[in-house]
This record gives sequence, C-alpha cells and structure tokens, in this order.
Amino acid sequence: MSFKRKDLLGIEDLSPEEIYFILDTAKSFRQILDRSIKKVPTLRGKTVANLFFEPSTRTRISFELAAKRLNADVVSFSSSTSSVVKGESLLDTVKNIMAMRVDCFILRHPTPGAPHILAKNLPISVINAGDGSHEHPTQALLDLYTIREKRGKFKDLQVVIIGDIAHSRVARSDIWALSKLGAKVRICGPPTLIPPQIEKMGVKVFYSVKEAIRGVDVVMMLRIQKERQNKCFFPSLREYREFFSLNEERLGLAKSGAMLMHPGPVNRGIELPVSLVDGKRSVILNQVTNGIAVRMAVLYLLLGRKR
Ligand code: CP
Repeated sequence: MSFKRKDLLGIEDLSPEEIYFILDTAKSFRQILDRSIKKVPTLRGKTVANLFFEPSTRTRISFELAAKRLNADVVSFSSSTSSVVKGESLLDTVKNIMAMRVDCFILRHPTPGAPHILAKNLPISVINAGDGSHEHPTQALLDLYTIREKRGKFKDLQVVIIGDIAHSRVARSDIWALSKLGAKVRICGPPTLIPPQIEKMGVKVFYSVKEAIRGVDVVMMLRIQKERQNKCFFPSLREYREFFSLNEERLGLAKSGAMLMHPGPVNRGIELPVSLVDGKRSVILNQVTNGIAVRMAVLYLLLGRKR
C-alpha cells in the first residue's frame, strides 16, 4: 500500500491499513534511535515548522528530534514569544512563515479543528500535534506502537482508559485507533468527565475503577485536564484520588503482566502513585522513545515521498 495523504489531522479518518503502514514504517526508523549516530539523510533540504500555541514537552521535543534525525531543518515557534501577542491571526502567522519556504507545519492549538483549517487553506503538509480536546493522532500512533511492541497484536485486546475522558484528545484518538484495529476499549471516570453518547464510539463505560480494570491487558491512565475545565467536575482532588486513581490493589485486578501507560505529563500522587509510575508494569518512558520513531515515520510519509 502507499500513503497518499498531504496531512495527518486525526485518527478518525485513517483506515486500519494506513495505521498499520505508519506503524510498520515507524519500526524501520525505531532502530535508528539506538545507533550511536542517530541520523539518516531522508529529509535533507526540507524544513519543518513546529507551531505550538499550547505548552508541550514531549510532543514538541519529539517532533523536533524526529525531524532532525531525518536531517530536516527545524524552526520552532511558541505563541507566547511571537507576534500573536500583538494580535496577528493564526492564518496570517502561518502564511508569513510559509513565505519563508517551509515544507510542513506541526500545529498544537487549543481550538479543535485549527489544523484542519490550515490544511484546507495551505498547499503544504499539516500535522495535528493536539487540537483542543479533539484529537492527538501521533500520541495514539505511539501508544499503538508501544502496545504492538509488547503484545504483538490488537485483536480482542482489552484496554481500559481511566480519568478525564471528556477533555482528553488522547482518549478520543486512542479510542478510534484501538477500535479500528480490533481492540476492546473500556473507559472509566466520574460521570461528569464522561462525554454523553460516547458509547457510540464503541466503548464500554464504567464508573468503578475496580470493575473497569478487571481482566484487562492494558491500563491507560489520564491526568485531569484542568486547563480545559471551566467549572468544577468533582468535589475535591482528595475524593477524585480516592475513587479514580490507580494503586497496587486496583492494578492487581488487571491481567498479570498488564501494561501501564500514560501519555504524560503525569501528576504524580493524583492519578498514579510514584511507585507505579516508576514500577515494572510502567511503559511510560517506552512510549516517549517510540514517539520519535512514529513521528519520523509520519514526517517521512508526508514529506519524503512523492504523493
Ligand atoms: N503527551 C503529550 O502530548 O505531552 P506534551 O503535552 O508534553 O506534549
């Protein structure tokens, strides 16, 4: 198969074949990261612009490293230190940067759909690095990569996602991705943080962590997205922790050897205790490493081949 897309905007409109194609491509890039010289000439002469209108550690550095590992030039833009603070619009910003002859925009923006607007209006590739609470496609792809690395398959794998589902773009992209590949997805959180009608995405909803986690192969924890909450969704953090955090006893209800995942940033002591973040079930740092390989694959498929 070939990958003919100009942009990567979400998982929702990808086919299972396209997802596997990205994962297979990422596998060939993953080994480069363990070499002493972690660089290939694949994107020499291309320029990638990282546009971040929201804070980020993992996604921003990972995309920058992915582009550099492929020998592309990278420019990084942060809205707080740009002319956006003087009133320049998103479209004017990107048109001006495009006039400097960049080949690709990687956009993180608080508004759902912002990358879609760029993709529609610009002739160059756009990659969604997280748009509001809508999608975070490369996070889902790196989660899939990590699950496949450890489990080898998705069919009938039981995965539970626990936490603030309503405000999580990671949850939405992971639900699309896992369901398309045949995994069974459960979600769990306080009723106020479960979006109405989410069952239509094919997930099973739980309000008790103990019930949700019983017999699963993968436990994915999410942080509370305070920056997207404009009101109180639960009485107190203490209460949230009591009912929805993970602990050894609750994790013990999953299958033996179940993987513990988290997209980061982790709020240690809230959704996860320190012992589990750094424990033997945790693959959190594997996710981060695999993220570079997945982003190298995405950049290569969008920029390195003739469409
Ligand atoms: N997982 C993730 O998107 O982390 P950052 O916000 O640090 O990029």
